[in-house]
Amino acid sequence: MQIEFRPGDYQGIACELLAYPVFEDEVEDFASLELLNKITRGAVKSALASGEFKPELHQTCRIGNPVGLKAHNLLLVGAGKKSRFLPATLREIAGTAVRKSRSRAYKSVAFLCRGIPSMSMAARVSAEGALYADYEADIYKTREKEQRNIEHFRILADRKTSRAEVQEQIRLGTIVGEATNIARTLANEPSNILTPTLFAERALAIGDQTGLSVQILEREEMEKLGMNALLAVSRGSDEPPKLMVLRIKSQEKRRARSPLYAIVGKGVTFDSGGISIKPSEKMEEMKGDMAGGAAVLGAMIALAQMNPRNSVIGLIPAVENLPSGKASKPGDVVKSYLGKTVEIINTDAEGRLILADALAYARTLGATHIIDIATLTGACIIALGHINAGIMGTDQKTIDRLRNNCGITGEKLWQLPLDDEYRKAIRSEIADIKNVGNRTAGVITAAKFLQEFVEDTPWVHLDIAGMDLEHDGRPFACKGATGYGVRTFVQLLA
Ligand code: BES
Ligand code: ZN
Ligand code: ZN
Repeated sequence: MQIEFRPGDYQGIACELLAYPVFEDEVEDFASLELLNKITRGAVKSALASGEFKPELHQTCRIGNPVGLKAHNLLLVGAGKKSRFLPATLREIAGTAVRKSRSRAYKSVAFLCRGIPSMSMAARVSAEGALYADYEADIYKTREKEQRNIEHFRILADRKTSRAEVQEQIRLGTIVGEATNIARTLANEPSNILTPTLFAERALAIGDQTGLSVQILEREEMEKLGMNALLAVSRGSDEPPKLMVLRIKSQEKRRARSPLYAIVGKGVTFDSGGISIKPSEKMEEMKGDMAGGAAVLGAMIALAQMNPRNSVIGLIPAVENLPSGKASKPGDVVKSYLGKTVEIINTDAEGRLILADALAYARTLGATHIIDIATLTGACIIALGHINAGIMGTDQKTIDRLRNNCGITGEKLWQLPLDDEYRKAIRSEIADIKNVGNRTAGVITAAKFLQEFVEDTPWVHLDIAGMDLEHDGRPFACKGATGYGVRTFVQLLA
């Protein structure tokens, strides 16, 4: 998809479809639609008056061969209430226009940005939304696979703007949109393809093209370092574990003592539960248990191309969690990289085990701030559903910044508490800590476990179980992996 800025009036844009956002408020307060209505000789008013089109969010109405416009089709796109309109909403609407166009096999789309004070912001999120929407998760379809991709996406402004500035924002939006789709593809890949080894190979290959240096720690090195919590999860599988360390090449000469962010993503390429095996219903979704790791790789790919304000490294512990004669068993005790001993009560609580070693290792690498992201607990889905990811941690400043960005990123985050009292549930009789609590507050006790391994380093934890997959499809997105977290990290760190 080629994305470009087109200054000038929308009337003169030749394309197959021109998308024009319409707010619910404009049904009553029609003045701002008067010009479009006049040009199209009343087509807008009649669509609204007949009740054929209600500008609720994501509703659309296509008007074929509109008079007064060079576009072959006019798509009125519902934008909802003006008071609720955010950059994240504009991103969705741009995506809705793209998916409508795809369904009709159009190749050229023009999108008029409305309702966002900053045209730079509007251009960036529109580019992101267009690329996000143009993605399909049909990697392995050999038949009925049509080329439906949009070739030209033109961004139009409803006011005078600096061309250079808008073009720069389109460049950034394109980087983020493409990086998000890379994360989605990784999470959509089945686990027979995307093993820890292939995950690491993809990171190496993409890193090479984008200015990332990718270091892979192999099993032998992890054994030497004493990463026995991570290794315990990997034991049951024939696939060797990999610990990826991603660095931005242009940041390799960093000022000493300046802040260093580490983003750490759970990379379980398949989670069967291990000996504490999961029920078979929906077990196939556990191929996406590396979505946190994919988000870290996606974010690092984007950041490496944008000269970010903050120094950042990425860590991805990648393993496969399977039962076998070699697998870890409930009751096993292991000594983690940090030195704390862990009693493994449930081998299905594996994410926190691999993260424990990766988090402690991030501190060894000099991280001053740590953010982890993981499809960590089913309890998070019970608590927050598929609407918000859980956010917890000791770095309240970063938590507040992340939450303030949600209106831009569209990736919602809801904070849960981390009181000391929750620590009690993961006390072990035999070791320093055990890897599961009781049935209560499962999101929080998982986070308390992680907290043991970051010690006093300011830390934020994102539990994205429930957010990594889109089950039904949306007007602006196909079913499958969402790439959740890429935009959150980029917005914070760029
Ligand atoms: N990967 C799962 C969590 C998960 C569940 C993610 C459903 C997405 C959808 C995780 O490794 C897990 O199995 N967690 C257990 C922890 C329990 C044993 C304490 C869970 O949530 O059931
Ligand atoms: Zn599990
Ligand atoms: Zn898991």
